[in-house]
Amino acid sequence: MSDNEEKRLFMDEVIAGLSATPATLPCKYLYDAKGSELFEAICATSDYYVTRADLALHEAHIDEISRRIGPNAHIIEFGSGAGVKTHTLLAGLDHPRAYTPIEISSSALEASVRELEAAFPAIDIRPLQADYTQQIDARFLALDPPANRRIVYFPGSTIGNFERDEAREFLKRMRNIAGHDGALLIGVDLLKPVERLLSAYDDQDNLTARFNLNLLEHIQRVLKADIQIDAFRHEARFNPTLSRVEMHLVATRPTTIDLNGRTFEFDTGQSIHTENSHKYSIDSFRQLAAEAGLDSSQAWTDPQGLFSMHWLESA
Ligand code: AVI
Repeated sequence: MSDNEEKRLFMDEVIAGLSATPATLPCKYLYDAKGSELFEAICATSDYYVTRADLALHEAHIDEISRRIGPNAHIIEFGSGAGVKTHTLLAGLDHPRAYTPIEISSSALEASVRELEAAFPAIDIRPLQADYTQQIDARFLALDPPANRRIVYFPGSTIGNFERDEAREFLKRMRNIAGHDGALLIGVDLLKPVERLLSAYDDQDNLTARFNLNLLEHIQRVLKADIQIDAFRHEARFNPTLSRVEMHLVATRPTTIDLNGRTFEFDTGQSIHTENSHKYSIDSFRQLAAEAGLDSSQAWTDPQGLFSMHWLESA
């Protein structure tokens, strides 16, 4: 997609979201350069347990994961994997044949590829700059000669950012990419007491608040919108019916957003819903995977039951 097409889509999606009742904004626009930096900083906070718990599971179970994956595998990661988790996985595998990170941001992709190529010169690293939520041309993933099997790797519980129906469809797409002999390795955050969840999404250093408010700055910067950013505050809410943490931007006084000749009005207390982070139990995620034609034959979790990693194969 050209820069102009991307901007057009950004504009259309923001206008559609702000016109909806209640107002929403797509969470993918949280991740401009500043948002990505803030997200990295969130991952290092003590309140946001997700990243540490996910890494600890990788470290604790890498031998078994490696045994399940076997030699000569093609690892396909959705999202960029410059982090310690991808290192831990690749370093622990038995002669992985190739690694394909699929990432929309070229800067994140380049940084991760540079680092991984230096660390793993024997692995064929084949970056693909693309939006992994869209269809991926099979030719980009073909290897000659083919690997023993494909493993679709999706850590960090990003699956939780999809609505349940979207998550099911996305799991089906990952199953198709892995193929009949392949498997999926997916991180899934677990349901836990509400206080713990809310402090993870409203950390003491206010990094999550800045991350959420930066979405308005991103719109202001790229789409030249007129927004009084200080008229909004960050709020994390738990929605027990849908088992998810929601991020909102709540108007603290009557305010407007002017964008492309249109005016969107907000009363005090009215919110813009910016992100969902669904929390599953082991069984509820197994059920979702089963609806996508996948069998969760193994789910690893930590002693505190914070996080889980599922090994999924075609049912
Ligand atoms: C990327 N994703 C898994 C994060 C989450 O936990 O839902 C995004 C995030 N939002 C606020 N903090 C972290």
